[in-house]
Amino acid sequence: MQFKIKSGDAAKAKTPCLILGVFDKRKLSAAAEDVDKESGGAIAALLAKGDLDGRSGACLMAYDLTGVAAERVLLVGCGKRKDFDRKAYAKALGAALARLGEAGVTEALWTLAGLPQGLGLYQAVRLAAEQAAASAYRYEHTKTPAKDAPPPLKIFTFWTATKADAKLAGRAAAHAGAIAAGVALARDLGNLPGNICTPGYLAERAVDMAAQHDKLDVEILDEDAMEKLGMGALLSVSRGSRQPAKLIVFSYHGGKDGDKPVALVGKGLTFDAGGISIKPAEAMDEMKYDMCGGASVFGAVAVACELDLPLNLIGVVPSSENLPDGDANKPGDIVKSMSGQTIEILNTDAEGRLILCDALTYAERFEPAVVIDMATLTGACIVALGRHPSGLFSDDEKLVKEITDAGEAADDRVWRMPLWDDYQKQLDSNFADMANIGGRDAGAITAACFLSRFTKEYRWAHLDIAGTAWLTGKDKGATGRPVPLLGELLIRRAGLEQ
Ligand code: BES
Ligand code: MN
Ligand code: ZN
Repeated sequence: MQFKIKSGDAAKAKTPCLILGVFDKRKLSAAAEDVDKESGGAIAALLAKGDLDGRSGACLMAYDLTGVAAERVLLVGCGKRKDFDRKAYAKALGAALARLGEAGVTEALWTLAGLPQGLGLYQAVRLAAEQAAASAYRYEHTKTPAKDAPPPLKIFTFWTATKADAKLAGRAAAHAGAIAAGVALARDLGNLPGNICTPGYLAERAVDMAAQHDKLDVEILDEDAMEKLGMGALLSVSRGSRQPAKLIVFSYHGGKDGDKPVALVGKGLTFDAGGISIKPAEAMDEMKYDMCGGASVFGAVAVACELDLPLNLIGVVPSSENLPDGDANKPGDIVKSMSGQTIEILNTDAEGRLILCDALTYAERFEPAVVIDMATLTGACIVALGRHPSGLFSDDEKLVKEITDAGEAADDRVWRMPLWDDYQKQLDSNFADMANIGGRDAGAITAACFLSRFTKEYRWAHLDIAGTAWLTGKDKGATGRPVPLLGELLIRRAGLEQ
């Protein structure tokens, strides 16, 4: 999607569709009022007929308004003016985008930027641009598009009152465009099926990305290289699969040479059948999404490249399948991780932590400023929090605040869960340094506790994205979360917010 910025007289703007806000009781937004004046009261007259009263989310498409250069005008209900906050703004925008989608309008001019309470112009444009791009996302890799499907929105223009506003809006649109592209990449990778999106496929895509950006390098470690590093936990998972595991390591050099990098580590399990502790058949197809943590690393790296962010960034994606096989892990097997700690595998379906623990140990060599890992790690996290926030686990208060704030600003929220020592003993094993599961209680927390044993050397946070990385049911599909949060965090670290 392309974003443009326009200022000046909205009534004179030549656009296929001019979008104007109407508040409760037919009160016009500032831009709508201007256009109404120029059209000799045509908008007020139209509203007086009673088709639209400004109820939040209602829409009315109008054609051939005298004195208006736009081909059509979309009036969108915004609810009560005093209640027009971020949520109401997003709702009005969503309704407008849905209406544009139905009509197959490919180019539109949005005049409501900067209006909502509590949101500055920058945030309002960011939100609108990201939502517009999301509405135009189509998954087309393995599905023929319907012939009569209306085309998606291609150009979304923001109308600003002044030239100074135009500059700020332009920066917001650029940031939004980069995040939206990162989200779309993560969604595409997530939506691709397990027979296409294998560890080898992800590695190839990473190599392609690095070929396109000067500041991005990638190294792919194969199983031999991992063997030499002693990654016994990761390799034990891939042993049960015919697809060789890959450890994908991105290095983005946007900062100074000595600047410590941010390291992002993402679970890239391209299909999780559970292994010998096999999962039930119902909804097992959704376990193709078990690489969405890894996909979010791809998305965040893409944001850094696109915005040329002045910081250093490492992205590590351990990638494997988890399948039942004669050579697969068996309950009771004991493996040795790269850290030297031994692990008793009591459930082969708790494989994410096995591939992540070696990747987290590997991340030490980059002397990272912070490490954040993202993983569709536990069904228990969905039980605890549902599908709205990602679970956040960290003992680093500053990092907790940084991640929470970024998630809030990016509309990609997290909720902190405890990581107290009290839970650690659930991982005791009679035969190894730890077990890979902690029993029925607090499954998301004990999974995080397991990871915490491999992250002692740096500042660290873990995001359990099992409930947020994809939608189930009719709208089944990857969401691209938490790319918005990660993109926001990187933009802020680079000092470029606003
Ligand atoms: N990938 C799953 C977690 C998952 C399950 C994410 C359902 C989203 C929806 C993970 O590998 C897994 O199987 N975890 C087990 C852990 C258990 C065996 C301790 C789980 O959550 O059931
Ligand atoms: Mn599993
Ligand atoms: Zn898994």
